[in-house]
Amino acid sequence: MQDVSDRKTSNVESSVRDFYDTYGWVEVDGASGEDRSFRVFRPAYESYHRAVERRTQAVFQPFGDSLLIAGCGDMPDSHVRLARNYPEIACADISARALDRAREKLGPPAELLEASILELPVPDNRFDAVFCAHVIYHIVIDLQEKAIAELIRVTKPGGRIVVIASNPGSPFRFFAGLALRLQKLFGGKASTPQAAGDKPALYFARHPLKWWRRFEDRCGVEMQPWDVIGSLEEQAMLPSDRLASAFYRFAAWFEKTAPGLAARLWQYPIVILTKR
Ligand SMILES: C[S@@+](CC[C@H](N)C(=O)[O-])C[C@H]1O[C@@H](n2cnc3c(N)ncnc32)[C@H](O)[C@@H]1O
Repeated sequence: MQDVSDRKTSNVESSVRDFYDTYGWVEVDGASGEDRSFRVFRPAYESYHRAVERRTQAVFQPFGDSLLIAGCGDMPDSHVRLARNYPEIACADISARALDRAREKLGPPAELLEASILELPVPDNRFDAVFCAHVIYHIVIDLQEKAIAELIRVTKPGGRIVVIASNPGSPFRFFAGLALRLQKLFGGKASTPQAAGDKPALYFARHPLKWWRRFEDRCGVEMQPWDVIGSLEEQAMLPSDRLASAFYRFAAWFEKTAPGLAARLWQYPIVILTKR
């Protein structure tokens, strides 16, 4: 008989899988549900994010031979560019559609694992590096520690696990909510975050940044800033291209000048675990 927490895990996992198989990775007019819901940005974001991607890739250097992309999704171009640095690539995801997209983009040399990162069918110490972007917060909150422990298990000593996480202590979600309320109050046309049709619900839960210290017994733990805000915050806070351009220029300057503080304030940190 399944106990309550097992049932919760399998319910969350199957609802997340359904979200991606029936909506997130399904294309309508050339754009997937994920593109329409979470990847709509103003033009200024592009050059800002190019620097973020360079910083993310630098974290993996020296690259080594083997990379696991855990929760590969539709293998966005940034993931493909990172994968090109490794002769051996494996992608794991619970969504069959995600793995179809990974197969199209990477071809047969990539090993595809239809598996949860809670239980990877992979021996210990197998990969030089693991990349896990925007996945951890879709796992049942009480099992996120187990998921990270599993990523550590499959990484070689000295290797890196690089996680793009979400920061519940970031002030930007609060600013975005405030911006929406003010727009409504003053009767303007509120630039509400993009309605994406009949979007199914998606589980989302995150721990505060200090939670990551629990891995210090096994890993060096560092943080760097990833993106300052996500697409939903941008739509709420930055109603014009001009404002977006000034905001992203400021964010780029700030994260270069005070990277430690930016990692604590930004909506998304890069969490870097170096296995001992
Ligand atoms: C927000 S998408 C991120 C995709 C990609 N990494 C990116 O950055 O665009 C989340 C992906 O994680 C996958 N996922 C969620 N829970 C998972 C789990 N327990 N094990 C493996 N993959 C999971 C989903 O199926 C989905 O493809």
